Amino acid sequence: MKEKLESILENAKEDIKNSNDENDMNLIKSKYMGKTSEFTSIMKSIGILSAEEKKSVGILTNEFRTTFNNLFDEKLNAIKLEKLNKKLESERIDITLPGKVVKTGSLHPLTHIRETLEDLFVSMGYDVVEGPEVETDVNCFEKLNIPKNHPARDMQDTFYITDEMLLRTQTSSVQVRTMLANKDKTPIKMVCPGKVYRRDDDDATHSHQFMQMEGLVVDKNISLADLKGTLLELARTLLGKNTNIRFRPSYFGFTEPSYEVDVTCFKCGGKGCPLCKNIGWIEILGSGMVHPNVLRMCGYDPEVYTGFAFGVGLERLAMFKYGITDLRVFYQNDVRTLDNFNRKEM
Ligand code: DAH
Repeated sequence: MKEKLESILENAKEDIKNSNDENDMNLIKSKYMGKTSEFTSIMKSIGILSAEEKKSVGILTNEFRTTFNNLFDEKLNAIKLEKLNKKLESERIDITLPGKVVKTGSLHPLTHIRETLEDLFVSMGYDVVEGPEVETDVNCFEKLNIPKNHPARDMQDTFYITDEMLLRTQTSSVQVRTMLANKDKTPIKMVCPGKVYRRDDDDATHSHQFMQMEGLVVDKNISLADLKGTLLELARTLLGKNTNIRFRPSYFGFTEPSYEVDVTCFKCGGKGCPLCKNIGWIEILGSGMVHPNVLRMCGYDPEVYTGFAFGVGLERLAMFKYGITDLRVFYQNDVRTLDNFNRKEM
């Protein structure tokens, strides 16, 4: 029996040595350990042996199995390792090669300014609302205390669609809509960013379409101090902590008193430079206390409620902030130009 097992083992060794892949190894396994193998029939025959023989044959078969399995596993591992090495070699990656550049988009500078302002006002408890660009004459002018034929209409050359419908010239129309929709509920705190239209020939500083953001607060006891604090916050968020503001008296039909608001030039800090035309101040928006007539026409008793409003042109802000000298840049949408703003601190 011993010789028999030794000769089987010799054959197995030879086969294992000559095997080159996992397939060969599978065949070897079934040849020497499978159901029809010589070894299995020896194992089956153990049952009929005497107890003495069982013991000695048992030892021999155990030895055989252990030796075979060791040889087998060693070879199989070697085959697997070689296969893995070949695979790694063929899939070798040169990590020093330059990577593929993934092209990313960038926010349009106007979008960035709009979102910065929206975030600021939302943080102060304002709603962001929208209104239609095709508007009624009533909402865009009449309820804003600018009746038909009022000279203030000349300030905003309008695209009329019919006698009563127009492309809104100012987001102030959304003040009217908001007050009418709220009846006499207060407080109203809203900003409305959006496009407006005026009959202008496009050039470096004029555009027939541009963007404004309107702000409106109506409640009891709203004063000019609230307006001032709010606009100071707006200016500092957008242009830096050291920015200051000043109010200059002005005229808008829907506010009384009305102001134009200037900020200290953020390039020279107010000393005077080409950007601010040596004045040290740059005008950025119009504002004022909501006119009692507007409150009344929109359903609020001016004896009880007061409010402030402001309207800011987003292109103007962006032009100063990014040093853009031609308004058309915003609408030509040349990706090469717009990409540049991505690298600037917003
Ligand atoms: N609507 C004005 C404009 O387009 C800007 C403005 C001025 C808005 C004063 C206001 C305001 O809300 O109170 O020129």
